[in-house]
Amino acid sequence: MANLTLELAQELLKVYGSPLYVYDGDRLRQTIKHITQAISYPRTQFRFASVTNGNIALLKIFRAAGWGLHANTPGDIYLGLQAGFDPGDIVYSGSNLNRDEMVQVLDWGVRTLNLDSVNQVELFCEVFSHAETRRKVGAPASGDLNFSRQRRREGEVKLGLRVNLPEVTGDSRIGVRPEEFDPAVAIAQQAGLKIKGLHFYRGTGTNATEAFTEVIDTVLATAQKLPDWEYLDFGGGFGYPYHHGKAAFDWEEFGAKLSERITALGREIDLVIEPGRAAIAGCGTLLAQVVSVKWQAEKQIVGVDTTVANLSVPAVHGGYREIFAWKPGENTRIYPTDVCGNTTYSRDYLGKNCQLPALEIGDIIAILDVGAYGYAMSSHFLHRPKPAEILLENNIHHLIRQREDYSVLLMNQILEEKSPITNDQ
Ligand SMILES: Cc1ncc(COP(=O)(O)O)c(C=O)c1O
Repeated sequence: MANLTLELAQELLKVYGSPLYVYDGDRLRQTIKHITQAISYPRTQFRFASVTNGNIALLKIFRAAGWGLHANTPGDIYLGLQAGFDPGDIVYSGSNLNRDEMVQVLDWGVRTLNLDSVNQVELFCEVFSHAETRRKVGAPASGDLNFSRQRRREGEVKLGLRVNLPEVTGDSRIGVRPEEFDPAVAIAQQAGLKIKGLHFYRGTGTNATEAFTEVIDTVLATAQKLPDWEYLDFGGGFGYPYHHGKAAFDWEEFGAKLSERITALGREIDLVIEPGRAAIAGCGTLLAQVVSVKWQAEKQIVGVDTTVANLSVPAVHGGYREIFAWKPGENTRIYPTDVCGNTTYSRDYLGKNCQLPALEIGDIIAILDVGAYGYAMSSHFLHRPKPAEILLENNIHHLIRQREDYSVLLMNQILEEKSPITNDQ
């Protein structure tokens, strides 16, 4: 938000329309650098979790900074490949792929997979072995894995398990319990593969640094139960200080402790870190304009030209995003204010009980820190097309995603009436 003055906000809305997602590329680069430098362990690989934001222009900034990609779904991989990531720099740590999707992920060349259940390990091994057999006998691709297109050696596969440890991962559906490690290892062995990785994910948005540092030893001890362990993926989940001035995740402390503990193991393992929110939240702002103001006693009810369908986090998921309005004058009076979206949906609030000056029609508001889970979680609920996205670098701005128009609401709908299909011959 540092680079966003009122004059610039006015210019941006004039050029691109309102509402508008604005990303500060310079700030994003600084955050990437800060996180990268905080972890001194030399065998560290950073993988951006694009579940938070899949805009190709932003993904390219991570790629240029030497980060790879973390994929939660095949769609994340698809976007990552479009952004130019090498499949070898993509780590998949998701859940519940069906067979076609497992084939697709492998066919795209992704070889590091942290799987969520023994069943997923079985499926991976079955798909992989089937393709390997076809490759060895020189059989053509069968609508299955197109192995001829890719370089593939057994050693390239990095199979890991997502871990479920109630004492550190809490009550989570995700992951494999340590007592399931042996069956998973045996299934992999039968396919000529090894379980080389352990993946830990604490859950999203934790600002308490000790919630991570206190569990390092437990996670490392658990990883060593895997006989062929050679990499640790420590997630995801690092918080972002949306309440400015309040607790923030301490990257230096985390990086120092994690590096120290891993170095003390006395064996050379690889470390993967896959931040999403912490890396990208702060560089995004949603600009909107006031279209209506009314008062209910002392409370200001401000109507704006955006909606929770454009930014679902605050109202639908209970998150907080600070709302800022440019008003000159040091002694401007502040009022309790609800910032309401442009529908009658009962949860269409961008902010409740915000402290804002008296606003007028045409004023611009900025909803801060929406770079993560902002556009990515927007939807067509309420049938409003989605905003445009722009990137700001060195005070130069350019469009990185078109504003949608109403035609998007017809997409994939079958408009012509066809005669019904019957079973009669
Ligand atoms: C396995 C994994 N890693 C990383 C992330 C990114 O999490 P965050 O944005 O909290 O860093 C997610 C989010 O869903 C995840 O599931």
